[in-house]
Amino acid sequence: MTDSFLTGRVAVVTGAGRGIGRATAITLAQAGADPVIAARTASELEETAREVESAGRFCLPVVTDITDEAACDRLIDRALERFGKIDILINNAGAARFGAVWDLSTADFDFNLDVNLRGTFFCSRAALRAMMPRRSGHIVNIASSSGKKPYVSQGAYCASKAAVISLSKVMALELRPYGIRVNVICPGGVDTRMAEEIHPTRDKTGWIRAEDVAGAVVYLLSAPSNIVLDELVIRRFESEPM
Ligand SMILES: NC(=O)c1ccc[n+]([C@@H]2O[C@H](COP(=O)([O-])OP(=O)(O)OC[C@H]3O[C@@H](n4cnc5c(N)ncnc54)[C@H](OP(=O)(O)O)[C@@H]3O)[C@@H](O)[C@H]2O)c1
Repeated sequence: MTDSFLTGRVAVVTGAGRGIGRATAITLAQAGADPVIAARTASELEETAREVESAGRFCLPVVTDITDEAACDRLIDRALERFGKIDILINNAGAARFGAVWDLSTADFDFNLDVNLRGTFFCSRAALRAMMPRRSGHIVNIASSSGKKPYVSQGAYCASKAAVISLSKVMALELRPYGIRVNVICPGGVDTRMAEEIHPTRDKTGWIRAEDVAGAVVYLLSAPSNIVLDELVIRRFESEPM
């Protein structure tokens, strides 16, 4: 493998047991990064770790529930113990429970906010405490097209992703003096287990692939230092521009 701008970079990727997170961890490893991967299911993390290692990079799997603030702190501590630094954080772990506003239980409303918004906040805060003294770092948050426009039955999910977009932009502003970059990606429908669970009967021909989003992450990380790509919207060619 020839050296790239990612060679030897330490990248924490949440939700890396499957789907977009797994594809991102593998793509980053293929480009030379060493991923620290987090999710709740150990067996899925182990499978991702095997694929990362077969790309010739180190991988540290850390079973983590990102709704647990102390667990997010431990994830970052484990990464620092193993690698001594964190260069990149990909806040990808996410989940969805849908329902019309009048039907949605408080528990399901909170679930969307807990995983998507609070989890992103907990991991970012913990990682920033390691990045800020080094005055360098890069955070990419995976939001959704659902954060940019309304979809029926997605009130809590849309609100959680709109909040992730807003949080990302405040972070970008607050962290600029520390040399830390923050981007947000808003994909439309991606053919993963989440999409299969939400839309089991939809034909997913032409849908975005997890690898497409992973490629976009690398693209954002590769931006020259004089520019920032604040927000990247990815949609199916067949869908309407946002
Ligand atoms: N698929 C789409 O159409 C689509 C579109 C736009 C945006 N997105 C966003 O993209 C991200 C990845 O989604 P995906 O489609 O790849 O979904 P996925 O295939 O279901 O993967 C989600 C990953 O997140 C992890 N995760 C879920 N809850 C977690 C928690 N509490 N703590 C730690 N890890 C957790 C899962 O592992 P465990 O269950 O083992 O914890 C899994 O590794 C999400 O933020 C999602 O909202 C998806």
